Amino acid sequence: MGRVIAVANQKGGVGKTTTAINLAASFAAAEVNTLLVDCDPQSNATSGLGFVKDPDRVSSYHLLMGEATAEEALLTTELEQLWLIPAHKNLIGANIELVDAESREFRMREALAPLRERFQFIVLDCPPALDLLTLNALVAADAVLIPMQGEYFALEGISELLDTIERIRAALNPELAVEGVVLTMFDERTNLAQQVKTELKNFFGDKLCTTTIPRNIRLAEAPSHGKAALVYDPRSKGAESYIKLAKEIIERQAPGSLQSSVHGVEIGIETPTTEEAIATVERSESVEEMPAKDEMDKTA
Ligand SMILES: Nc1ncnc2c1ncn2[C@@H]1O[C@H](COP(=O)(O)OP(=O)(O)OP(=O)(O)O)[C@@H](O)[C@H]1O
Ligand SMILES: [Mg+2]
Repeated sequence: MGRVIAVANQKGGVGKTTTAINLAASFAAAEVNTLLVDCDPQSNATSGLGFVKDPDRVSSYHLLMGEATAEEALLTTELEQLWLIPAHKNLIGANIELVDAESREFRMREALAPLRERFQFIVLDCPPALDLLTLNALVAADAVLIPMQGEYFALEGISELLDTIERIRAALNPELAVEGVVLTMFDERTNLAQQVKTELKNFFGDKLCTTTIPRNIRLAEAPSHGKAALVYDPRSKGAESYIKLAKEIIERQAPGSLQSSVHGVEIGIETPTTEEAIATVERSESVEEMPAKDEMDKTA
């Protein structure tokens, strides 16, 4: 059975889509069949893989509304082992249209069920909100990967996300695990970044991915060319870091691998409680000062 990973964080612009595209591409490059599902009306994962807007194309909207099967929505991509289920901005409507619908939180899970045998990884790119679309993704998922920007307010809002995960576990999807927390746009040379990393390590423990994603211009450029970074510039630091992240996640899944045998990292590891989350946010708020502006600029 394939593993379904939702890339989620209700905070905007933290690197969800960049992570979803490049992680999925890296899985595919590792020669495992991978499906990327765009669950965001902004449709950045769709355009980032080179697909122009097309309201008539079968998309995640039709899946949620029960108007098409996932099979019918599949698009092939430039990478042989990567498929895409696109989104369109009409997906905003699903949030409203599904309000009173039966089993409205299970629509994505049910739609993807027939494909789980076929793909080793299914990666879901979520919108920056804890709305019905993200809820559908989290109910469909085995695990959630949380990208966080290595910045001063990284932990702000995290308690809300962890709360949501807990509530989903309690009511809708007891198997939902935290795949990991990945630091994005990370400039390891700054004191601030190191401070944030230490903070997150204390908070998330083994759930903090060893691999960090650097701020890298190629990662920002690649979507405008409709390509994953490893196609656009395979030697870039950005492409390399996502390949490393994919390896780390594959390694975590492999039974008897170092990670899972040493740390017991498997499905169902507990996430920190809300109280712990809030305490950490409060601690991070009392961090004394931002580094000098010129220190930040040097490493940008
Ligand atoms: N590691 C990186 N290096 C440089 N630029 C990056 C990196 N990661 C993301 N970006 C850029 O930052 C912006 C936000 O990234 P992205 O769209 O992946 O975030 P998001 O969390 O999906 O945003 P949203 O919440 O709007 O969906 C984009 O312009 C993207 O190209
Ligand atoms: Mg996005």
